[in-house]
Order: sequence, then C-alpha cells, then structure tokens
Amino acid sequence: MNRPDRKPQTPNFSSGPCAKRPGYDVAKLDLSALGRSHRSSLGKKLLGACCSETARILGLPAGYRVAVVPASDTGAVEMAMWSLLGVRPVDMLAWESFGSGWVTDVMKQLKLKDARKLEAGYGDIVDLAQVDFSHDVVFTWNGTTSGVRVPNGDWIPDSREGLTICDATSAVFAMELPWNKLDVVTYSWQKVLGGEGGHGMLILGPRAVERLESYAPPWPLPKIFRMTSGGKLNEGLFKGETINTPSMLCVADYLDALQWCESVGGVKGTIARSQANLKVVEDFVAATPWIDFLAKTPATRSNTSVCLSLDLPEDKVKALAKLLEAEGVAYDIGSYKDAPPGIRIWCGATVERSDLEALMPWLAWGYEQIK
Ligand SMILES: Cc1ncc(COP(=O)(O)O)c(C=O)c1O
Repeated sequence: MNRPDRKPQTPNFSSGPCAKRPGYDVAKLDLSALGRSHRSSLGKKLLGACCSETARILGLPAGYRVAVVPASDTGAVEMAMWSLLGVRPVDMLAWESFGSGWVTDVMKQLKLKDARKLEAGYGDIVDLAQVDFSHDVVFTWNGTTSGVRVPNGDWIPDSREGLTICDATSAVFAMELPWNKLDVVTYSWQKVLGGEGGHGMLILGPRAVERLESYAPPWPLPKIFRMTSGGKLNEGLFKGETINTPSMLCVADYLDALQWCESVGGVKGTIARSQANLKVVEDFVAATPWIDFLAKTPATRSNTSVCLSLDLPEDKVKALAKLLEAEGVAYDIGSYKDAPPGIRIWCGATVERSDLEALMPWLAWGYEQIK
C-alpha cells in the first residue's frame, strides 16, 4: 500500500483534553477579565454567563441549575456524591474505569452499606433493566475508556423515587440527553467543546435541590463540596459565584467555545458533527477486516470516544499509535491505560470530519507497516 499523501490538518484525536474547535485562536479570546477579581461585577457577569448560556444552549428545563465547580468533571461528580448520597440505597453502574472509580469511592471511601454494584466488562454494558429506581443511581452516560454509552434514557422512569446522578462528561453537547430523567449531570469543558480542564460543570435538577435542602450527610464535607448554607441552597453558586477562585482565562475560553457551538447550530449542530465523524470510522471498520469496535452492539457505540480493537498483539498496537504520532497524523490515540489494548479516536464536535477522512488511510497504511 502506498503511503497516503494527505495528512489530517489537525492530528489531535485525544479523548481529553480534546481538540480545540476549528478556527480557534487564543489571541481572539475576550480577555477583559484577566487580572480582575472573579467577584468583580465583570468577573461575576462572565461566570454567570457560563451558567446561563450553558442552560440556554443545552435547552435545560425550567428549574435546572448550572454551576461552575472546582476540579473538573471529577470535582463535580464527587461533590454530587458526597453531598447527596446516603439517604437511600444506591445502585452503582460501571462498565469501564471511570464508572468503576465512582463505585470505589462510594463503597470504600463513603463506605455506604446499602450500595449495590452493577458492573460489566469493557465492550459490554450492564443490564439496565436490573436498576432499582427506588434507589439512587450513579452512572456514566458515555464510558470514555471503552466507547460504550447508554443507548438512550428510556430505561429511566419519570416516576423514579431515587435520584439519577450521571457523569456525562464525554456526552454533553455530543449526545441527546433526556434532562427530565437526570437529576444531576456533570461534565468538563475539556471534552466535547474542546475547552480547558480544571473546572467542572454541575447541573442540578429540582429533585436534587430538594434533596440538598432536606438532607445533611453524616460525614464531614470539605469547603469545596459545600452547596448549602444553613440548610438552604447557595443560589449564588448557580449564578457564577464560585466557591473558590477559577481561572478567568479558562472562563474566556469556555465562553468562546459556547459561541462556536451556537455558530454550528447549537447542540443539534455539535451532535450532528459528532455523528458524522463516527460515520467515517464506521465506514472504515465496515470495509476493513482487522479492526472492530470494542462496543459489542451498535446501539451502545459511542460517537465521541470511539474505541477500536485490532487483530494485533498489544506491543504492535502500541507501535502503530507511536508510528502515527511520529508521522504527525494522529496524536494520543492509544487506548486508556486500564482499557484493553486498542486505539481510541475522539470523534467529538471539535474534530473535523475531513481530518478523520484523512486519518483512515494512514491507519490502513500504518497497520501494514507494523504487521
Ligand atoms: C467518564 C469520565 N469521567 C470522569 C473523567 C475525569 O474527568 P476530569 O479529568 O475532567 O475530572 C473522565 C475523563 O476523561 C471521563 O471520561
């Protein structure tokens, strides 16, 4: 096979931090708040816009609140679990390493006795019909390290008794989310919109707020997890009054990413871009005998963190990823450290379809060199 002559313009296919949006230019960010207090009226206005613009663009139902919180998606998930869990039994769902991390936290750190774990291996998903919605439920919408997502929200009843706490960091802005079925949703700027790490987004539905205002967990809560004061929700947090100091540079970067999202048709546009990206990989896989999706069923196939298995031993898969990096055609496509050997290609909205189209022949070429 001939060495392909066209390279992706942007070879960034990492699953986080993900590629910057097409046309991104750090010099064009609105940096008016740099060097100013985040509690100045300008700082608060911009942080407030991170919350209100997110709610508007995502089309959140009335009564849903959005906060910028510390420590990226992990911070947002931990904050939710430590603040909300403990009243009811909890079902912990996991089918890859991030979901498993939340299971560990609930069982070994929070030490909840009434915690039930529903787990599946890489490529599979748990039997969603087994979930007990009289319990609280913690799950990951898209398992970033296995490329396995929940197909939809049909398995979540509107009339549930417990809360649903959903880590959707590699899904928000790329997959349709049934907001009314999700009481807590978390994500990070560094994923689908190609923003920066460090800050988490915490979305709370009314039922989560009701829980916060009616229940105080028996364990100590660090200051950076605290969302209530005197049993009342700290409403300021959901208007941009962050608990501690955020990076105003990252805030500017996120607001720029939101504007870009609008420019491509809002969340419908970013979802469509991601699906079109997945289609490029699907077509390649369909035509290529030595590669397949790690996700066992198409309905659970991620359209962001696309994980692929190859008929090569682990050292050769690693060599392939290295070769493509050295050629400058694909960076960071090796599978996650705890996942089975393979490659993972980010197909979120900030990746250009033309770059994936350019990458596929290189994959085929690289495979032949390595094999
Ligand atoms: C599903 C999932 N949860 C949590 C995280 C951790 O995110 P962060 O590093 O933004 O805290 C990631 C990161 O890739 C993830 O994919």
